[in-house]
Amino acid sequence: MSRQSLMTIWEVGKMFSIRVPATTANVGPGFDSLGMALSIYNEIEVEEIEKGLEIEVRGLGRDKLASNEDNLIYRSMEKTFKKIGQYPRGLRIRQYNGIPISRGLGSSAACIVGGIMAANALKDSPLSREEILQLAVEIEGHPDNVTPALFGGLVVSASHKDKVQYIKFPINNSLKFIVAIPQVELSTRRSRGVLPKAIPFEDAVFNVGKASLLVAALISGDLEKIAYGLQDRLHQPYRIQLMPSLEKIFQEAEKQDLNQLFLSGAGPSLVYLTWDGGNEEKEKNFYDLLGKMPENWDIQILRGDNKGARFK
Ligand code: HSE
Repeated sequence: MSRQSLMTIWEVGKMFSIRVPATTANVGPGFDSLGMALSIYNEIEVEEIEKGLEIEVRGLGRDKLASNEDNLIYRSMEKTFKKIGQYPRGLRIRQYNGIPISRGLGSSAACIVGGIMAANALKDSPLSREEILQLAVEIEGHPDNVTPALFGGLVVSASHKDKVQYIKFPINNSLKFIVAIPQVELSTRRSRGVLPKAIPFEDAVFNVGKASLLVAALISGDLEKIAYGLQDRLHQPYRIQLMPSLEKIFQEAEKQDLNQLFLSGAGPSLVYLTWDGGNEEKEKNFYDLLGKMPENWDIQILRGDNKGARFK
């Protein structure tokens, strides 16, 4: 069937709204593997129109995001249409960003997941959630943000023979994510660019132990053990050198036994992971520590999102 004849079977006026959560990837030692969905969201509304492309971007980072064919939601929709083999006549996209951009909180993953789901819905959903996931990972490059953005919860993912395998666990309702977001942006590309080509064997062993303990603590509910499972030697030591305050914060946190701290995704945001009834003095020490840094840090207290991307 030609592209033209396929176009005619689309229904102009079909419209969908989708809500996609932010994510915190890596969660300390689980580089490119662990991710958790958080309670801030991007909202995406898409509609098939007679012709052309109309994109409106609102909310955080709106001045920095493309409202043409380079827009990430649009690009993800395009890839989905190509996979499905059908294209719309025209498209209207309205994007409202509640997730700060380039801060390590999964704003790109939210756009990719939302874009694919929107395109799929416009064509009566031929792609399963599994197929949506594989396409999202293909676009994003690694699974640790896209799996929780799509499914919600705490997700452990790993690739096996080019396919992502994952297991989702619910995030304990009492967990409190104290997210500290600096004004400065950091692109994932730059943050991946400083990672080493090889690491010492003992660092690899360190991370295997920490990541395993962390997952066990999170899913068993033995929350006190979280503090011993969040440390990392694969990416954080290299990345924090990109911003002097991050280095100082981690050094000082170690001195003060603030062990529940990790870099969110590729950074530069930080997460201090605690729980209702957790150690309030340490929480306060973390705020005091941030207050001594020259940047303004926006602090948001978030919860886990266990639903993932959904239609409104
Ligand atoms: N695991 C990825 C990284 C998350 O740390 O580079 C960012 O997409």
